[in-house]
Amino acid sequence: METSSLSITDGATTIPYNPNLELAVSEAEQSWRSFCNLTLEQKKGFPYIENVGYEHKDESNGSDLKENFHVTIGALRRLAREMAKTNCPEATKFIASVTALAEFMEEAVREYCEFLEKKYEITGIADRILRNKGGWTFRFLHYFPGTTSGKEIAAPHADKGGFTFHLRESTGGIQYLNPDKSWESIAVLEDETVLFSGMQMQFASAGKVIALCHRVVANEISEAEGRFSVVCFVDMANTPSYDKKTHGRMQDHEPGFNYEMSFEEFSKLFAK
Ligand SMILES: [Fe+2]
Repeated sequence: METSSLSITDGATTIPYNPNLELAVSEAEQSWRSFCNLTLEQKKGFPYIENVGYEHKDESNGSDLKENFHVTIGALRRLAREMAKTNCPEATKFIASVTALAEFMEEAVREYCEFLEKKYEITGIADRILRNKGGWTFRFLHYFPGTTSGKEIAAPHADKGGFTFHLRESTGGIQYLNPDKSWESIAVLEDETVLFSGMQMQFASAGKVIALCHRVVANEISEAEGRFSVVCFVDMANTPSYDKKTHGRMQDHEPGFNYEMSFEEFSKLFAK
């Protein structure tokens, strides 16, 4: 990845893939699809505990209709050991593919941090991000079919961490809110990834980098076939986090509420 080939528009950054990372993402997505084809009982054998594992959400728990699997880089070895004991080849292969993917993330993360530091004349971003590598989280998502085209499948929000790689989307539908507060669609291309900055980055850059509000809207393909995606949340060490307990879910704020906030006002949203 050449830093000169990064293109940044209103806070959304497009990065051409390094071929190793592109292949690893593609294999991880395929193995996630195979994992999704297991029975619900088999999948529930890997329950979500402390930011790692499988969750199935449906109308019964008042949530979006989706299933997802979270994996932190720090938990990969433990998960690989546990999955080896289950005799479930799909699960073992899934975690092996995430382990391979994790190997190629650091280079992309480092180059993006260096790009940000240079562009916005800020220091210490790469250091805080790379120190937290064990906490970087992959989220594998599968939205079930059925949401009518044009309706939101994920409500507008900014992510809480440093930044988020949208590594793979099986179909379009991601939109971000530009500074004029209108929605822009992001093309889904196989050979590039899209990054959005989050709340921690807005904090750590003293407001120079804005946490970008985004949403997912159903289209005809996702309505008929569902939607698969792979994202990676890259959070920062030694940086305060958005205080959800006091200030509520990100989805409950007005879209783009943080865009014109003074840094003083913005920093009040963070737990010390
Ligand atoms: Fe998000």
